[in-house]
Amino acid sequence: MSPAATIPLEDFIKELEDLAQSAIEEFGAVADSEQLEAARIEFVGARKGKFKTVQKKLGSIDGPDKKAAGMKLNDVKKSIEKALNESVERISGGGNEKVRDAKFDPTLPGPQQRVGKLHPITQTIEELKDIMGRLGFTPADGPEIEDDWHNFKALNISDSHPARDPLDNFYLSLASSREKHVLGDNDLLMRTQTSTVQIRVMETTQPPIRIISLGRVYRPDTADSTHYPMFHQMEGLMIDELVTLADLKTVLKLFATSYLGNEVPIRIRPSFFPFTEPSVEADYFWNGKWVEFGGAGIVDPSVLTAVGYDPEQVSGFAFGLGVERLCMIRHQITDIRYLFTNDVRFLRQF
Ligand code: PHE
Repeated sequence: MSPAATIPLEDFIKELEDLAQSAIEEFGAVADSEQLEAARIEFVGARKGKFKTVQKKLGSIDGPDKKAAGMKLNDVKKSIEKALNESVERISGGGNEKVRDAKFDPTLPGPQQRVGKLHPITQTIEELKDIMGRLGFTPADGPEIEDDWHNFKALNISDSHPARDPLDNFYLSLASSREKHVLGDNDLLMRTQTSTVQIRVMETTQPPIRIISLGRVYRPDTADSTHYPMFHQMEGLMIDELVTLADLKTVLKLFATSYLGNEVPIRIRPSFFPFTEPSVEADYFWNGKWVEFGGAGIVDPSVLTAVGYDPEQVSGFAFGLGVERLCMIRHQITDIRYLFTNDVRFLRQF
């Protein structure tokens, strides 16, 4: 066997250095991913790449020089890989507008933009206003921080009434109260019902009146699947000559049928509220069972007197419905707390 021709170490090193230099130049110059791929195959292709070709010559280096040649080979390999990686980074990572434009495909669907939505309670409120608007009821507003007169006294809730219990109310101060359960005239609380707005409207408006009031109310309840210390009510009030329980029932029936989109049976059961006489609880029949919608009744004459009306001349009905309950029924929401934890995964569904 004739000894293989040997290659001088200096020639081998020179060849490697030239290779490294041209590879670095070329990787530095590529302008798009196609050119990059061509350069990659040219220099580091697994079978015919230029680096591979030079590497094969290592076998032809004289024994004593082999170690130095191998080290040089490794250095060059590293610098070529580095140039390749930088080039990949540059082409794929943006920063080079021309490259990005070249890759832009106008036929692809655009990125999906998420559009914000109204909260389900806000959506429900808008819908309730719409339905009641068609029945001739216009929205009215009142403050969430109320005084004794509007939350209790004008609504015929006496000083000793259990509804005034501090355990059932968020009082904001008791400083001037004469008794534990009685607010002084200047003491305030978070309103516990939207019936306060009935008083505010009647104090400033002469009949006929047809209003609804939608807003937050506050009660110190422990949160569970059906209770929350803050919730929303829709109050309705109609005052005119000769308004009767039949009018109330008709409005509730029209409302239930519009909201639930079906011919919905309703029923009223006797109940008690200090500000209505007679008082009722109203239920509608939905998905095979009676569901309570809220309280209602004929406005008590003493309430009409409190706001300066003559109960001999006018009468009216009032009702107060829970907005969360209506929203939950519609969307089959099983826990009221979902409505207030503001988890976007929940909210996105509406
Ligand atoms: N305000 C009552 C409540 O909070 C509901 C109601 C409103 C009852 C109007 C009768 C008339 O429960």
